[in-house]
This record gives sequence, structure tokens and C-alpha cells, in this order.
Amino acid sequence: MFSIENQISGKTFPINKDETILDAAISHGINFPYGCQKGFCGQCKATILEGEVYYEDEVPNGITEQEVADGMALLCQCNVKSDVKLTVSEIDSVDDIELKTMPCRVEKISHLSGDVVKLLLKIPGSESLQYLAGQYIDLAHPDFEPRAFSIANAPVNSSTIELHIRVIEGGKFTNYISNDLEKKSLLKIEGPKGSFYFIEDSDKPAILVAGGTGFAPIKSIIEHMIETNSDREAFIYWGVRDEPDLYMSLPEEWSKEYDNIHFVPVLSEPNENWKGRTGFVHDSVLEDFEDLIDYEVYACGPPVMVEAVANTFIGKGMKKDNFYSDAFEFAFEQ
Ligand SMILES: Cc1cc2nc3c(=O)[nH]c(=O)nc-3n(C[C@H](O)[C@H](O)[C@H](O)COP(=O)(O)OP(=O)(O)OC[C@H]3O[C@@H](n4cnc5c(N)ncnc54)[C@H](O)[C@@H]3O)c2cc1C
Ligand code: FES
Repeated sequence: MFSIENQISGKTFPINKDETILDAAISHGINFPYGCQKGFCGQCKATILEGEVYYEDEVPNGITEQEVADGMALLCQCNVKSDVKLTVSEIDSVDDIELKTMPCRVEKISHLSGDVVKLLLKIPGSESLQYLAGQYIDLAHPDFEPRAFSIANAPVNSSTIELHIRVIEGGKFTNYISNDLEKKSLLKIEGPKGSFYFIEDSDKPAILVAGGTGFAPIKSIIEHMIETNSDREAFIYWGVRDEPDLYMSLPEEWSKEYDNIHFVPVLSEPNENWKGRTGFVHDSVLEDFEDLIDYEVYACGPPVMVEAVANTFIGKGMKKDNFYSDAFEFAFEQ
């Protein structure tokens, strides 16, 4: 085990012998810039100040011989033989991430519940998408206007994008996805987008309130926390109509496996066998917390739910600066 130190940010993290520097950075929640992750694009280039790096195979195409001679390296491809000091400008805001448009192939379509479809998209070739946990993409098909969907997986293997899509009654694109879209079809994504993302540099406990498929970006955030071994307290409140709308058992499993992750499902129209919490999801949070002064709040889902969280949590001491939200507004036809 060696260590990597970025002299620009002062951050240090450990690295295993068989890991690339970029993989080690990502798994410690450090946002080094990258693009393809395959040695082509050059976006992960950094200057090595001290220590020894090497490439398993030949020097990749994304870096010139002159750059290698000048002490530069492609972090997505190189391993280390010693402790390394380097300089690279980390991504600390969404503005630092390049917005990309790229094709993607439908890898898998599965129906998670009555009206929620899980779509797995694969970015072909040498491309991948860098994003922060919580952000969304615009999904485009030649026959429809682009539609916004939050990315549901953590930004670790970012050549695969998972989406949770609620099929809207009368909704053109979501019904097409549910009924007609076929495996291996080609779509286009544009992203990453949105200023809703998990704040890494905080140690405040987080309350994450999801309504319906608003669970998607919350899943990305929690998987990212697990990936980076974060021990921050996370309280997930997931509001849906009835039990089948809790379309994944993951939050229940996380709360059993990790002491710092807690889960409260809340049903607004429960069946008669339901013994858990009922009512509006934001009311359950208000009941459970004396005050919200020391908490960060992440709210995601239907605009009416996000608005209810914003308006009522302030009265319990939530600071505006600690509130992050993503309202699933919909695009009106042009
Ligand atoms: C930032 C952002 C992230 C989003 N992430 C997700 C996500 O992860 N998962 C997800 O399921 N959805 C998400 N949405 C909502 C999603 O974009 C819309 O549901 C989708 O665009 C509907 O497309 P459609 O073509 O099926 O409906 P349209 O044909 O555009 O709409 C048909 C009719 O349905 C109604 N309608 C459309 N969308 C909604 C809606 N969301 N709520 C209520 N009524 C609606 C409208 O009245 C409209 O007239 C997100 C929205 C935003 C802005
Ligand atoms: S060369 Fe593209 S991310 Fe490393």
C-alpha cells in the first residue's frame, strides 16, 4: 500500500498496488477530473512531482512522449511503485465538469413496480461520463424532446448509467420507454446536469427525503457514501403511495448492514396490512427530529413534496445553506 498526495488540494489517500491512481482517488471520494477512463482523451493528465508511476502496457495514446518526458501521467492508466506527490486541479463544483453529449446503448430494461422502469444504459467505446452523485442527464431519442432523469448509480463505473423512470399517465416518452423501447437501441444523453449533488467536504448528518423515483439520486448518493467508506449519518425517508411503490429493497438492506444508514419508508395511501409510517413523508421527518439546525437536507422528487420540505423544515431550524433539492418538474411541449 502506497500513498498519493495532491499538492494543490493537500489531500492524501492510500492506493493498492493493483489500482490506478484515478480508481484510488474515486474510491476515496476525491474528484480528480477524467473523461474516457481508457487512456484516450487525456482529461486525467497530471504532473508527477515525486515518486514513480508506470503503465501495465505501452504508454497510452492520450499522452505524448514529450509530456511523459516532462513528468506528466494519465491517472486513469497508471499504477505506482512508490508514494507519489502530484498536482492536479480537483473538481469541487459542477461548473468544473465538462458537459457532454454522447450516444448510449440500452443494456437492460426491467419493470421494478407497476409504473417504474429501470433502464441500464451503456456508453459505448472509449467514452464515459463524469458526474457527481445526485446529478441528472437529459435523455434524447430522435422522436421525442429530451427528458431529464436522475442518475441512480454512484459515479464509480461511469460508462454505465442507471435510471429509474416513472411512467407518466399520458406521458409520451416514458410510455415509449416502458412499452416500445428495445434492448440494444441507441439513445443520446447530455450531461451531467444540475446543482443537486452530495457535499463531500461536510461531516454533518444528512436527511435524504425522496418522493417516488426521487429515490434514484438518493441511491447514487448512498452508494457513493458506501463506496467511499463514509461514516456520516444518513437518514433516508422514502415517501410513496403504497407498499409496491417501494420498488427496491436496497435501503432496508443498507440500514441492516451499515450502522450509520437509517431508513424510514412512509406510505400516503397504505394497504390495510401496512404497519409502518403513514402520511406525508416530510411530516414524518418533522415528527422524528427535535430540530434540524445541525443537519443537511437533500430532497428529491415531485415539486409539491420538495416545496413542502423547504417550507416546513425552515420552521424546525433547517438553515437555507444546508438545503439541497431537485424537483422533478416536467418539460411542457414546445
Ligand atoms: C432534474 C429532473 C430530474 C428528473 N429525474 C427523474 C427521475 O429520475 N425519474 C423520473 O421518473 N422522473 C424524473 N424527472 C421527471 C421526468 O423528466 C418527467 O416525468 C418526464 O419528462 C415525463 O416525460 P413524458 O414524455 O413521459 O411526459 P410528457 O409527454 O412530457 O407529459 C405528458 C403529461 O404528463 C404530465 N407530466 C409529465 N411529467 C410529469 C411529472 N414528472 N409529474 C407529474 N405530471 C407529469 C404533464 O401534465 C404532461 O402534460 C426529472 C425531472 C427533472 C426536471
Ligand atoms: S485518458 Fe481519458 S480519462 Fe484518462
